[in-house]
Amino acid sequence: MYFLLNQNTTPTELGEINPNTTVLQWLRINNLVGSKEGCASGDCGACTAVIGELVVENKKQVVKYKSINTCIALAYSLVGKHLITIEGLKEGKDLHPVQQAMVDESGSQCGFCTPGFVMSLFALYHNETKINLSKINDALSGNLCRCTGYKPIIAAAFSSFNEKSKKPSDYYTQNRTKIKQEIIRLNENQKVSSSYTNNGNTVRYDAPSSLQELAKVLSENPAAQIIAAGTDLSLEITQSLKEFSHIVNVTSVKELQTIRDGHSELEIGSAVTYQGASRSLFNYWPDLEAFLHRFGSLPIRNWATIGGNIANASPIGDMPPVLIALEAKLKLRKNSNVRLVKLEDFFVSYKNTILKKGEFIESIVIPKPTSKEQLITHKISKRYEDDISAVCMAINITLSGDQPTSVRIALGGMSGIPQRAHQLEKVLIQYWNQDNLTQQAYKALQKEFTPFSDVRASADYRLKVSANLVKKSNLMMKGENVTDLAETTQASSFLEA
Ligand SMILES: Cc1cc2nc3c(=O)[nH]c(=O)nc-3n(C[C@H](O)[C@H](O)[C@H](O)COP(=O)(O)OP(=O)(O)OC[C@H]3O[C@@H](n4cnc5c(N)ncnc54)[C@H](O)[C@@H]3O)c2cc1C
Ligand code: FES
Ligand code: FES
Repeated sequence: MYFLLNQNTTPTELGEINPNTTVLQWLRINNLVGSKEGCASGDCGACTAVIGELVVENKKQVVKYKSINTCIALAYSLVGKHLITIEGLKEGKDLHPVQQAMVDESGSQCGFCTPGFVMSLFALYHNETKINLSKINDALSGNLCRCTGYKPIIAAAFSSFNEKSKKPSDYYTQNRTKIKQEIIRLNENQKVSSSYTNNGNTVRYDAPSSLQELAKVLSENPAAQIIAAGTDLSLEITQSLKEFSHIVNVTSVKELQTIRDGHSELEIGSAVTYQGASRSLFNYWPDLEAFLHRFGSLPIRNWATIGGNIANASPIGDMPPVLIALEAKLKLRKNSNVRLVKLEDFFVSYKNTILKKGEFIESIVIPKPTSKEQLITHKISKRYEDDISAVCMAINITLSGDQPTSVRIALGGMSGIPQRAHQLEKVLIQYWNQDNLTQQAYKALQKEFTPFSDVRASADYRLKVSANLVKKSNLMMKGENVTDLAETTQASSFLEA
């Protein structure tokens, strides 16, 4: 099994490796030690590299590059792709413009985080023609630096773009056509299925490329572990030191990577990433742009799938409340049997769903909004970016004048599952234009939810902040300026403690 690595013109063989191996582990075993391991959980960015993969854009095949966290991506997911690491940037003796800019702007002190920052800046440099502070902040949203501080690094991002206008393009731009042809060739001939034996234990890996093959392999091996991008699951390997004996990767299945923009619904394949789905989602629900900007970091959104977020069934996953409020359904498949279930009926108890052994999520079907429907989303977390929610709220509301005629609300972080708030919906209809809306919302939430207390927030805080979010939504819909009401756990309250 082969992939392209850096500026090597001949494909690199993955070799005989345990399928539980991460990209970062593979790199370091193979003496490419520029990428560092800081956290091994996708949080610090020291391991960031850039991956190029073949996608179809405007009916043409192109290679798209994106930053990813190599510590939580499995090495087998490299097959048929192009991996660029920090070792691949220099051309002869010349540093790449982003490396040179980091030197010139003194963007590094101890240097541990530097390869990760450089790779995030390289992805920005490669993908953008013009930049601004917001694009730089987004590109660096997954990178932490403990000693240099961010100002010189941001200055380096700007100055690399100054150079870009003067100098000829880098190796990867100059060789774009050759690289694409090689990747096309690699993808034509590869079958990704492998068996690895170590100390008498056999570990199997399959990455089927069609829906039919995936259904077959899962029905024949119902105990196999499904993985998509692995941004949740790989942590079991890197943090809990678990080893899976049979891994089935769903991200090569073409049918699971497609988005169907139908007459009355949007159908998103379960292996579509956040970045991949963003254009379609923002087109129909513009409020999601600000909300999804706060989902993990850019490398996470580049790699993680929506299906993985749902199947992971975390009570603090961000997409389930949004999709429940939008009345989404899941297409579940086991062999040739397909069932369509409401997402709100999918979650059974903490981390448990109705998925049967051998069954998988094929797609997410979302009814398109009517012209009067409006989606409002809130995420409360300790940090503004790259943090998991303490509370997540999604309200899908239709108003007639200033009176709601229909409301669907769902919340995350308020019980063991992402949950619809039926009582609260009634309160919004009844008290929307009353002064006591927040108090009535609080009472309804107390009846309907028993939140937990944990490191992110206490149960009482969760109830109160949810009632406050109802009031905030109400003010937003009435055209009040509520932008100063920050959505972090330090946020101010309407409801007194
Ligand atoms: C640094 C960091 C930041 C994060 N920030 C956020 C955040 O802000 N908000 C948030 O909600 N989450 C966040 N996450 C969690 C994670 O990124 C998301 O839940 C992501 O969408 C999971 O998708 P995946 O493709 O990586 O799933 P995987 O990890 O591959 O899989 C997750 C689970 O889903 C199952 N699965 C995957 N696909 C299917 C399928 N098609 N059918 C059936 N089962 C399937 C797998 O078996 C596994 O149990 C973060 C994670 C990290 C590491
Ligand atoms: S090592 Fe920290 S994100 Fe990978
Ligand atoms: S230079 Fe030391 S952590 Fe960034």
